[in-house]
Amino acid sequence: MADLYNDNPTLDGLKKMDEARQGEVFELPSNEQASKLFYIESYGCQMNFNDSEVVASILAEDGFGPTRNMEVADLILINTCSIREKAEDTVRKRLRIFDKLKEERKGLVVGVLGCMAERLKKKFLEEERLVDLVVGPDAYRDLPNLVASANDGERGVNVLLSREETYADISPLRLDSNGVSAFISIMRGCDNMCSFCVVPFTRGRERSRNAFSIVAEAQDLVNRGYKEVTLLGQNVDSYKWENPEDKSVVDFAQLLEMVALVDPDLRVRFSTSHPKDITDDVLYTMKKYENICKYIHLPVQSGNSRILEKMNRTYDREWYKAKVDRIYEIMPDCAISSDIITGFCSETDEEHQDTISMLEYAQYSMSYMFFYSERPGTLAARKYEDDVPLAVKKERLNEVIRVQNAISLKLNQKDEGKIFKVLIEGDSRKSDQEFKGRNTQNKMLVFPKKEGLQPGDYTWVKVSTASSATLRGEIVDSPNK
Ligand code: SAH
Ligand code: SF4
Ligand code: F3S
Repeated sequence: MADLYNDNPTLDGLKKMDEARQGEVFELPSNEQASKLFYIESYGCQMNFNDSEVVASILAEDGFGPTRNMEVADLILINTCSIREKAEDTVRKRLRIFDKLKEERKGLVVGVLGCMAERLKKKFLEEERLVDLVVGPDAYRDLPNLVASANDGERGVNVLLSREETYADISPLRLDSNGVSAFISIMRGCDNMCSFCVVPFTRGRERSRNAFSIVAEAQDLVNRGYKEVTLLGQNVDSYKWENPEDKSVVDFAQLLEMVALVDPDLRVRFSTSHPKDITDDVLYTMKKYENICKYIHLPVQSGNSRILEKMNRTYDREWYKAKVDRIYEIMPDCAISSDIITGFCSETDEEHQDTISMLEYAQYSMSYMFFYSERPGTLAARKYEDDVPLAVKKERLNEVIRVQNAISLKLNQKDEGKIFKVLIEGDSRKSDQEFKGRNTQNKMLVFPKKEGLQPGDYTWVKVSTASSATLRGEIVDSPNK
């Protein structure tokens, strides 16, 4: 779970991406001392996964221990996503399974958290008659109360959104951690109004977290042996925190520097960057610190200016291209990745071709690719007709996937023969004789183990062969010796 959505997608993998993003179940350390046990499943973006770790911490304070086994849980929680219709369908399917458990076991409490809870509010209790709790993303501190009421037979809803809540003081319980990389939420909500997007409705207004609490969390992770943090927000580049004591303001470039200075051996990543907000200051800060990874997730959504305007992205094709040029100019070795939506309202074949040519122009190392899914209540749902036939949306998506994979492969082949500094994350998926780890560009490398090295160590790897998703190689001596 080191990536934002899932590990480097491959051709097949991409088709299954939604499935891969869904249904990841936390690997919970089972806790036999706790008097009550909770089980939590998370869907959607990394921020949602990180919220589940905040929820786990709140519940632990209340005497709940985590369990990996839903059969023994007293409380089952599902942290949900509303971004596309399919994400919501998956959640409903999971609820059917929890319903069965509830019928079998008196006293079992089932709660729905996250974006779907926020979107549907009370309606959820009407639609899903066996759900006891509906709790929105800003109301997790209320969970112990709501659970207690549910135990007394009272179904509860708290979906109040807040302008202040950042859970800054809560130390997330790292649930399925590899002990090497962790996520730190630096802000919540989103003030952009991309017309296709449900997030501003489910997550509320944008607010930035106390910078010192972020640095303290990074320091704590370092003390516990972590080697990589990813700063999370829907729009990290608009991070802005005002110190209430002296009114000084910390912006994202400054925050990045503060976190980079925690420890030169701690890798710093961040996601997501809205192209309109990433500044030269951020780019120069990235360049200045070796431990800030040279990788930017810079979702374009579409390569066509008319569609971008309808999407309310506030940049056009030329502006985006200039941003890409600037990134490569300041950091020639930087990798850029993207999110793409195909078949947005009224998109023509020709306009779709502009997206294809944008992939070529930007030379993305990878992309997360989706066909447009209309979300109730969004600007697009209210203003535009969802008029591109599903088959066309899918056909365009397949073309985007094909082109992106060819670009990824070509870029990866250029890495053959190169030597990279890699942070070892653990065993490779296929073999316990091999390690996997990433280079600064966020590319996954797989290589035979060497004695004395373990996850969390840095090593140097020379690439021998490349596929569109992975680089394979061998450990070599540091080129700097
Ligand atoms: N804050 C991030 C995106 C968060 S949602 C940003 O602005 O880039 C992650 C991705 O889901 C989006 O970038 C977009 O590509 C996709 N997405 C969002 N709403 C969608 C919809 N209605 N249909 C299809 N894809 C969508
Ligand atoms: Fe959604 Fe746009 Fe906000 Fe991203 S920036 S979360 S796409 S509204
Ligand atoms: Fe989904 Fe909510 Fe994240 S809609 S993508 S879980 S902010």
